[in-house]
Order: sequence, then structure tokens, then C-alpha cells
Amino acid sequence: MTEHTRNDGLIFYVNGKKIMEKNPDPEAMLLSYVRQKLRLTGTKNGCGGGGCGACTVMVSRYDPESKTINHFSVNACLLPVCQLHGAAVTTVEGIGSTKNKIHPVQERIAKAHGTQCGFCTPGMVMSMYTLLRNNPQPTLEEITDGLAGNLCRCTGYRPIVDGFKTFCESENCCQNGAVNETACCMANGNGSKEPMDNGNLELFSKDDLLPLDPTQDLIFPPELMLMADSLDQTTQKFVGERMTWISPGSLDELLQLKADYPQAPIVMGNTNIGLDIKFKGIFHPIIISPTRVPELFKVSQKPEGVCVGAGCSMSVLKSVLERNCSSFPQENTHMFRALLQQINLVGGQPIRNVATLGGNIASAYPNSDLTPVLAAGRCTLVALSKEGRRRVPIDKDFFLGFAKTALKPDEIVLSVFIPASRKDEIVQAFRHAPRKENALATVNAGMRVWFIENSNVVKEISIYYGGVGPTILSADQACEQIVGRPWEETTLNDAYGMLVDDISLGASAPGGKVEFRRSLTLSLLFKFNLHVLQYLKEKDVTLSEIPKEMQSAIQPLPKHIHPSYQEFQNVLENQPVQDPVGRPVMHRTALSQATGEAVYCDDLPHTDCELFLGIVTSSRPHAKITHIDFSEALNLPGVVDVVTAKDIPGKKFRTFTGFDEELLAEHEVSCVGQMVCAVVADSKAHAKRGAAAVKIGYEDLQDRIFTFEEAIEKQSFFLPRRTIERGNVEKGLEEAEQVHEGEIRIGGQEHFYLETQSFLVIPVGEEKEMKVYLSTQHPAFAQEAVAETLNIPSNRVSCHVKRLGGAFGGKVTKTSILASITAVAAWKTGRPVRCVLERGEDMLITGGRHPVWGKYKVGFTKDGRITAADFQYYANSGNTADESVLVVEKILLHLDNAYNIPNLRGKSAACKTNLPSNTAFRGFGVPQCMLVVENMISDVALKLGRLPEEIREINMYKEVSLTHYKMEFDPENLVRCWDDCKEKAEFQRRRQAIDMFNQQNQYKKRGIAIIPIKYGVGFSEGFLNQAAALVHIYKDGSVLVSHGGAEMGQGIHTKIQQVASRELNIPASLIHISETSTECVPNTCPSAASFGTDANGMAVQDACQILYKRLEPIRKKNPNGTWQNWVMTAFLEKISLSATGYYRGHDLDMDWEKQEGKPYAYFTYAVCCSEVELDCLTGEYRTLRTDIVVDVGRSINPSIDIGQIEGAFMQGLGLYTMEEIKFSPSGVLYTRGPGQYKIPAFCDVPLKFNVYLLAGSSNPLAIYSSKGIGEPAVFLGSSVFFAIKDALTAARKDAGLSGPFILNSPATPERACLACATRFTKMVSQSESRSTSGSAQPWALDI
Ligand SMILES: Cc1cc2nc3c(=O)[nH]c(=O)nc-3n(C[C@H](O)[C@H](O)[C@H](O)COP(=O)(O)OP(=O)(O)OC[C@H]3O[C@@H](n4cnc5c(N)ncnc54)[C@H](O)[C@@H]3O)c2cc1C
Ligand code: FES
Ligand code: FES
Repeated sequence: MTEHTRNDGLIFYVNGKKIMEKNPDPEAMLLSYVRQKLRLTGTKNGCGGGGCGACTVMVSRYDPESKTINHFSVNACLLPVCQLHGAAVTTVEGIGSTKNKIHPVQERIAKAHGTQCGFCTPGMVMSMYTLLRNNPQPTLEEITDGLAGNLCRCTGYRPIVDGFKTFCESENCCQNGAVNETACCMANGNGSKEPMDNGNLELFSKDDLLPLDPTQDLIFPPELMLMADSLDQTTQKFVGERMTWISPGSLDELLQLKADYPQAPIVMGNTNIGLDIKFKGIFHPIIISPTRVPELFKVSQKPEGVCVGAGCSMSVLKSVLERNCSSFPQENTHMFRALLQQINLVGGQPIRNVATLGGNIASAYPNSDLTPVLAAGRCTLVALSKEGRRRVPIDKDFFLGFAKTALKPDEIVLSVFIPASRKDEIVQAFRHAPRKENALATVNAGMRVWFIENSNVVKEISIYYGGVGPTILSADQACEQIVGRPWEETTLNDAYGMLVDDISLGASAPGGKVEFRRSLTLSLLFKFNLHVLQYLKEKDVTLSEIPKEMQSAIQPLPKHIHPSYQEFQNVLENQPVQDPVGRPVMHRTALSQATGEAVYCDDLPHTDCELFLGIVTSSRPHAKITHIDFSEALNLPGVVDVVTAKDIPGKKFRTFTGFDEELLAEHEVSCVGQMVCAVVADSKAHAKRGAAAVKIGYEDLQDRIFTFEEAIEKQSFFLPRRTIERGNVEKGLEEAEQVHEGEIRIGGQEHFYLETQSFLVIPVGEEKEMKVYLSTQHPAFAQEAVAETLNIPSNRVSCHVKRLGGAFGGKVTKTSILASITAVAAWKTGRPVRCVLERGEDMLITGGRHPVWGKYKVGFTKDGRITAADFQYYANSGNTADESVLVVEKILLHLDNAYNIPNLRGKSAACKTNLPSNTAFRGFGVPQCMLVVENMISDVALKLGRLPEEIREINMYKEVSLTHYKMEFDPENLVRCWDDCKEKAEFQRRRQAIDMFNQQNQYKKRGIAIIPIKYGVGFSEGFLNQAAALVHIYKDGSVLVSHGGAEMGQGIHTKIQQVASRELNIPASLIHISETSTECVPNTCPSAASFGTDANGMAVQDACQILYKRLEPIRKKNPNGTWQNWVMTAFLEKISLSATGYYRGHDLDMDWEKQEGKPYAYFTYAVCCSEVELDCLTGEYRTLRTDIVVDVGRSINPSIDIGQIEGAFMQGLGLYTMEEIKFSPSGVLYTRGPGQYKIPAFCDVPLKFNVYLLAGSSNPLAIYSSKGIGEPAVFLGSSVFFAIKDALTAARKDAGLSGPFILNSPATPERACLACATRFTKMVSQSESRSTSGSAQPWALDI
């Protein structure tokens, strides 16, 4: 229990309601407080570490000095409740609801189709809402900046931007965006003037949107104003179970506290210390939080510069600097501008709103964006303690090492002085990060040079780098080379030479990317050189110009979003208005998602006596378990029990494709992260502490296998290994005019569904019944798993899935294992048990997409015709088979992609390694294998000196053909997509423009690629294509539809509602879908393989047609009656108003012995063209434009299908260009959250993003002529990869290199930069080869 030393405790408001917390828990964050204590579950937990924005809320405070109310967005997961005194918190529930009135922000994201799974939506809504509270008519750029901290894994962001930009005033919108060739995106529909082949409609109408109405906003509580005016200076102290929170009211008291408790941290924004406590397990018994000490927030301006209180947030600092930029003479503002540039990219807006200047400096972490600039820019700080104050320069002597400064333990940073730049002094800041926004820098720098008046001779120079060591680094030797000399090429060349030695990163330096980071230090100095030359020229100090082809090297990459265009088939003219099929109907629960009312598994209310499960995982990659000691854990407060394999009453393993996977390891572990046991406690915090206290004894086993090479050497595979062949490959290769051998490695991918794996298992209390609420794509599979684990019949287990916050294939196999473990805990304790994985646990335990190594030998003619190709694929499956064998089979079925290669062979192997097991992921191996064949095409083109699109076109299937497994198909629509895409993307014109651009620019290159796809839809295991449904009509005419598909954002329930509406001929509003439950529809198949709507739509159609037929006699008797009349009459006439529907599915199969079959129902075709601009000095790129043409047959719902296409494209873009999973040399996963693992964000959306659904297409093989589209479009993201490769080809040409080259996936800035082979990367690689540290073990495994 907690106690407090203030009578009135903590006073704050949430959504207009006053809260008095006498005993706030010092360890509680606002997120758990609103979700658990206040039951406001709209605010979501996506990562718990400030990196995803799902928990965004608005905090408002009254400033008595300026008499203004300040609103700011914050991440509730990092905001301690104890800091809330005097604040008004607004959560998504506080701005609107479907019961009363929705807010325009909620309405617009919903109507613009900006929600899919909806888990990120409340956070998006609150970021936008806060922006509008401060600025009711923002520009498009302000909107995207305001949303930079919010991640979405489903939508691809475009519809969110489209929905929110309706708040822009037209003149605010595209004029700022410098869109010259098209109208403003506010001007009409989607803002395009492009032709409409399909008779396109708008995806949503802007005409009937609710206006922004400030009277709808909650007023700021007057009581809080009075409290703020009274300047309460009493100390607040809250004592919790383990931690004491002290908030001093005055500076003197703060200094006294620091003297009394020198080891106690100062918590300001909690963005650093909060992460340490949460993720590194660092514990502080005492916390000092001086957020009410006014001196820490003082800002004073002098002619020499500005003094900023250390407690000022980045956002406040930003406005101070902006003010200075306009109030100081231009030539004195270099330092302010440099700092501003960095601040704008620190985290996302919610982080900038709380992270403080003092916290940033005192944290002394090596990637701080501020400290290199502060150091280079001659800044000083005031350090204060009871002993007195001292002014300390912020420089290399202040930063002593990782997280170490020269501050004494009892000192605080009071303020920072930022000097104005002097005459003839320039300061520049640089930053390179793995993602353009909301990512810690890989390398950053602050550089300052001061010239002797009216000359180019350097009087003073200072260069600091961040990200290249344990603390920031001063390039002393390079500076020595420059000082006293004129700023010219020879001086700089000497400096580059010295810099290579200044920055000595060992091969195993934490963070890896050693060669890249070193070359960045050089190229950033080169960029500074260009800036300085430009400055000197402008000042007429030198006459020499920057060479024309280098000028773009210091231009930022394009950033402004252009209007995008979505085209889809119109419905037939005679289709009744009421019939929703084919129309862009909004996701059926979009409004509930936008208001936070949509219920996800962890939003279910806590049940009586509920317990929480914490999982204990292996810390060894391969070891015998010698003992498990949980005595300490059992003695901890709140811990109730521990569950091990011995407690499992039934089957202790799950069987996937013939391989057993233990639920909990009993004798041996085979990867770090394998589940060993679980701790059950009365709260999440107690379960977590309990789990941390379990001690497992290991005896390491020597034979560890991590990499492909190790697996191949030891022949460590899951069998069978498959082969497929057509023609005669040997002969084809022999007869070819040229033969080439190549390879590519494709890294894995984390699902990063925003909602982590979640379960609630409730023992009913009699006859061994269990109710399981969970987030799975396959409820029937979880039911079977739980029943077998508990050794009870399936009829005692009911699984319920309301919705999932994303899945992408990751919520099937591991989910069934986790559900089983949770069920064992509920079984053993007889109490309800909840298990919700934290982001880091989820990433560690559940695996992801298989990394694949593809090797090939290809034979071709001089004119580009491929005559033979021989592929070998290895997939890194991890420690268990899971679905790996099926994945490598699917790889072989798609190895041809869209190409008719007469002699073709593929062999695949699923490598068994000691890494966490990989599993299904959208595309199921296809995104990997298709990259291999496309890379082969690119190699052939490079070999022949031809363009890749020519080789693609020459080899593409063009007429009715047989695949390599002898399935006949007609590629007509593939060819139409190709031609359409080339035309719509103006491919030829842009190819020429790009050539021109590349000739004129040395360090910026553009590239373009157009990529086709032929994707088989359906399960090759025929029985998985069946589906069933249950439809009830109630006496009031309302209809309840149940079917086997799970709603995970793909919009299946919306499409099913459309199907039922058409079949029953009633408005969709009469049809409800509540959940997916094994009680309503048994023995369902997974919602996967892009087949959910195909199968379940048919089953629902069947049930509805049965019912409609039953009502026929009644309708005939009373043709003018209403639906409700007919239903009531049917009831009175004893006609059953309930029916099941069934769909047998296609009889698909694949005979691997004969190497032939019909594994797919049909093919979905698509073609995508992307153009990028690449900065060769940093490897950073922007996707300037993407055009996608997709054949989805006749879309049931174009907005949903376009959403799937855009979302999958962005996921593919992440896979092929950004997302990197990193393991330590001993197999420990490093990438366990959004901080380390970067998925695409708003900044990564193509600046122009057009999607066209192919006109005039249909598909007799699926419901209403539609086609499955959930998975195929992932591969379209590879067009960005190949566009980067195209740009690299141009860069390499300048470096005198030609022909095929290896670019592995993802094509990260690191890989792209090194492939450019600039003079700087060459300098580093020469110095690396000279260095002796070559044998050191790299920081990360190269799997
Ligand atoms: C998601 C995320 C993204 C981020 N992105 C970036 C980025 O892009 N660039 C970047 O530079 N940073 C980034 N950061 C880091 C962030 O800027 C720093 O964590 C922040 O500035 C620290 O300030 P704070 O007020 O939150 O410190 P706190 O976490 O409250 O405190 C941190 C440490 O500083 C000490 N301290 C705080 N104030 C004082 C003081 N006045 N005197 C003495 N000691 C003090 C505390 O004792 C504590 O040890 C990111 C952080 C997160 C969570
Ligand atoms: S949950 Fe708070 S930012 Fe992710
Ligand atoms: S809709 Fe954004 S994460 Fe699913």
C-alpha cells in the first residue's frame, strides 16, 4: 500500500472528471492508470516505450505567467501518474463517442478508410486532435510532422493523411508542398486530374463531413487554473511498494534532496530514465521529480545568446530558437538554426513535448542529437548544488563515457547557454538515421568554423560526432589539419585523411555498421565543406563555385507529399442503390475504432480473482536445463504459482506439419527466447518481477547453429527437402549464350502487429469448461490446442475473437502455444488468467518472416531471353519446424513469378538453427523467392548492359501457359497490368528524365523499377479451403452473421456484411457481426492465404440464399410487405429463421512426387512502378512516386482492397529497404521494440502514391468475381528495392563500376551507401584493410 505526505494528494482531471489520488503508485504510468483504474481502454499499449504512439493522449496545463492553456500530446506509457498534479488529461474517449457525438477527427479518419485493425487509431486521433487544438488549420507538413511519432502497420498511412488533410485550408495545403504539375489535393476528389478509365468515384465524400467545432471541446477545469495561480510550493511525496516519489516545490529543496540522495535520478520527461527502469530492469528506490521548480524553466535572452532552463522541453526549446532566429540578425543565427534542425527530428512530437534539454545532456548517450551541436557550438551549462554553482563548457571534457558526465552526484543542470554565432562563423548540424523521422541517429554531427574576417582562413574549428563511440567524439586531428589554413580542397583532403584515424571504431563496436558509420563521418564533413564553400561564395570571400554536379549533395531529399490517386471499377449502372457490393463502404467498425470503443482482447474487463501470466524464457541458445529454481519468485509479493511442463495435464507439445514443438521446454532449450515456464501473479507488475526472479540452471551444448552456412555444413534441415523442375536445366544452361551465377540474401521481418499476443482464459467452473478470449487468426486451432493440452474434449473449450490488432500470419501457431500455456495456468489455479505479451517479449518469442538465401545459375541469349535457371533456396527456420516446410514449398511454387523460363529448377531447404523459430508471414515465402528471381533478371540486364524492364518484358508469360507445376493459366491480365502501369506511370518519359538527372548530379541519383507479380490464391492443402457460416434472423428483422473468418483489419466482416446485404436484399445496417467463435461456427480454417473472404463469403452467401429461399413463399404472398413483416410472418408460420452455410472450396492439391498439381484456385496479378532519389553520401533515399495496377477481379469493396494494397506495399517497402532483425553473436535478439526495429512511418510513404484497380477484370472462380488481395501486394514493395538498385547502378557507373553487384535485402542506407563506392567509402575500406582488428567478432550475427 502507498501512503502520502500531503493531505490533498495528487489532483488532476481526466476527460473533465476530477481525480484525487491520495496514494498514487510512483511506479505507475498514465497508460496503465487510465486503462486499468479508470477503465478507459481506448488508449492502447503498442510498445510501452514511447516508440509507437498508440498510447497518445493530450495533456493540458495552465501557465499562470502567460495566462495561457497549453495543450500537448504525450505518450501515456512514459508519463508517470505522480507527475500529473494540476494537469487535465484528455483521452480518445474524452473527445467524442458513437453514443453521443463523434469528433470530426474521429469521423474523418474513419470515413477516409484510415483504419484497418484500428489498434493505432486512437493514438492517431489524439495526435491530430492535439494539433488542431493548437492550430485549427494546419498545413499538410504540420500534420505529417505531428503524426511522425505514430506508427501504423496496416494502412500504409496514405488514407490517414487524406482524411486529416481535409482540415487544411486549401491554401495551406499543396502550395506549401510545391506541387506544380497537379492541382491542390484539396481541390477535388482525390486531387487528381488524371484520366478515369474506370469511371472512378471518390473513395470518400468530403461533402458531408462534420465541421470542426471548438464548442465540442472540454473546457479546461477552472479549479486547475486556481491551483496554478496559487503557486503551491509544498513538497509532494508518495511512497509506493518499492519506490518513493518526491516532487520538491523549490530549487533549494531540490538541491537539498540531491545532497541527501545523490544517487536518486531526476525525472523530468522520463524518456530516458523511464526506459532504463522498464526495459533494463534498473531500479531506483527514490525518484526526485522537480517539474514544479520554476527556475528550471526560465528562459532569458541576451545579445550574446540565450539562456534556457534545463527543464525546458524540446518543444519549448524549439519555439525559443525560432523566436531567436527572427529576433537576432541573420548572420548570428547559424547556431540556433543548426539546433532547430536537430530538434525537429528528435523522436516524435509527443517525445519532444516532454523530453528536456537538461535530461538530454545529463543522459549523455552517444546518439544524442543535441550534444554534438551544443559542443561544437561553444555552449555552456550551469551546474548547481548546495555547494554552489559553476559554469561548465559542454564539450569533450564534460562527456566522460557512456551515460557519464562531469557532473558531481549532488549537482543538477540548472540552465544551458546557447551563444549566438559570431560574424564569419558558421554552424551546421547533420544527422543520419535508419528512418527519416522518429529514429535515433546512426551518426550525427555538429560542425562549426570561424574565419578570419573577410578571408577563407580558418581561425577556429570544432567538429563533434555522435554515434561513433560510447560518447560524443571530437575530431581533434582533423580540426588541427584545418585551423590556420585557407578553406580549400587540399586542406579538406588532409582533414579527411586524419578523420579516418580520428574515428576508430572496432569491428565489434556496439551498434555494428562500422564501415558505414566511419564513412558517414567523412561524407558529413564533405557536406559541411560544400555548405562552407557556398557560404564563402555568397560572402564573396572566394570566387570558386561548387561544381554544378555536386550542388545537389547539400539539398535535402524531396519531402513534400503530392496528391495521390485511387481508381477503381464503378458498379454497374443498374445495381440497386441499397446493394453495397462493389462500393467503397467504410470498415464496419471504423467509428468504434476511432472513438476507442472497439474492444480488443486486453480491453476486456478484469474478472473476479483474475491472475496475470509472466513468461520465463531461455537465455541460452542451446543448453540442457539442469534445474529450475522458483523459490525466490514464489516469495515475492503477489506471486501465486509457477507453471512448468510438468503441470500440463495433456499433450505437452503441438504438432505442426509433422514436427512436435514443446509448449514449455523441459530438458533442453534450443534458442534464446524459448519458453521454459511461467509465473502467475495478481498483477502484471508482480508477474513480471516473479518471472525475473526465476533461476534456470543450464549446461551449454556446444553445437550451436545460427547461420545458413553453419546449417548447410552440418546438414541441419527440417525434412522433406523439395525439388521442382521442368525442361532440362543442364541442357538449357549448356546451350545458353551466356551463363551467370548470382545470389541474394533477404533478411527476416518482424510482424510488428500493433496489438501484441493477448489471451484471457476463464475456467467456467463446471464440467471442465474453458472460455478462451484471444487474438488469433485461427480460433479452431487454438481450441484444439487448449483441449489437447488440458486433455479435455474440444466441446469444453470455446474460443472467442472479437477482433485482432493486426496479425499478418503471426497469430496462428505461436498463438496456439501461448493460449495453451495460459490455459494450463488457469487450469492449475482454477482462476481466470490473462497474458498479454510486452512488445519485447512478443518480438523475442514469436519469430517472424524467414530470412532466405537464394542462389542461382542462369543461362540466357545475347538478346535477353532466359533459357534456363537453376535456383537453390535456404530458409532460416529457427529452432522448430513450425510451418517452415510449407513455406519452402510455397517458395518453389512461386519461383517463376511472371516469367516463362523453359528450363527451370528449384530446390529448397528449411534450415534448423538455434534462433527463435520463424513462422507464417503475409506472403508465406513468396516475397522472398520472388526477390530472388527479380534479382536474377536484374543481373542478366546488368550483364548485357540492358535495362531490367526490357529483360522482364522479353521473358514474361504472354499467352495461355502452363506453370512449372503444370497448372494452366491465362496471363492476359498480367500483361494488361504491365502495359497499364507503364502508361499510367509515364515510364518511358521518366526513364529519360532520370538518365538526365543522373548525368547532372554526382551525389544524388535517381532510379526507377517496374515489377510484375503473379500470385497464387488459396491453400494447396485442399481441405483448408472450406468454410462455414451461421446466420440468424431475429423477429425484429435484424440479422446476426457468424462465420469462420477473423477480423484482423483486412475488412472481412465488412465484406461479409456486404455479401449478406446483397443476398438477403436488406440494408447492411440490419446486419451485425459480433465475433468469431468456435461455439457458432466449428472447425474453421485459418484466416490466411488471402482466401478469407473467398471462402467465408461463399459460406455466408449459401446460408443467406437458404434463408432467402425459405422466405420466398411469404414474399410472394405479400409482395408489398417489408422485410420485418416477412420475418415476423415466417416466425408465426414456424419457418426456421436460422441457417448454416457451407462452402466446400476448390479441390486444390500439389503432388510433390510428380512435381505437378493445381495448388491455387487462380492468380492475382499486379504491377508496380517506383522511383527513388538516393543520397549517395548517406545511402538515404525517398520514394518519389509509386504507381500500382492490380487485378482484383471485381472488387467487393474498393476502399478495403486499395487499403490492403497500400498497406501491403508499405510492409514490403519495410521488408526490402528498412527492417533489420539483429542477433548478438550468441543468438540473443537485439531488436525488441520500435526503438531498435524500424517499420515504415508516415515519412516513408511515396510522395505520390497512385493505385489503380484494373478495369474490366472479373474472376469466375471467387465470390462476385472478386480476387484475394491480402498478401500479393507485399512483393510490390520490392519495386523500391530495385529502384534503389537502379540508382546505385548509376552511382557505380560514375565510380567506374559496371555489371552485376550484390545488394542484399533490406537495401538499408548502410548497404546502399557502401554499394555507391564513393571516394569516402573507399577511403574507409582501404583503412579497414590496413587495420589489424579484422579478426574481431562483429557486434551482430550475419545470418
Ligand atoms: C521514443 C524516443 C525517441 C527518442 N528520439 C531521440 C532522438 O531522435 N534524438 C535525441 O537526441 N534523443 C532522442 N530521445 C532521447 C530523449 O531526447 C532523451 O531521453 C531526453 O532528452 C531526456 O530528457 P528527459 O527529460 O526525458 O530525461 P529523464 O528521462 O527524465 O532523465 C534522464 C536522466 O537525466 C538526468 N537529468 C534530467 N534532468 C536533469 C537536470 N536538470 N540536471 C541533472 N540531471 C538531470 C536524470 O537524473 C536522468 O538520469 C528519444 C527518446 C525516446 C523515448
Ligand atoms: S505504447 Fe506508448 S508509445 Fe508505444
Ligand atoms: S490500422 Fe494502424 S496498426 Fe492496424
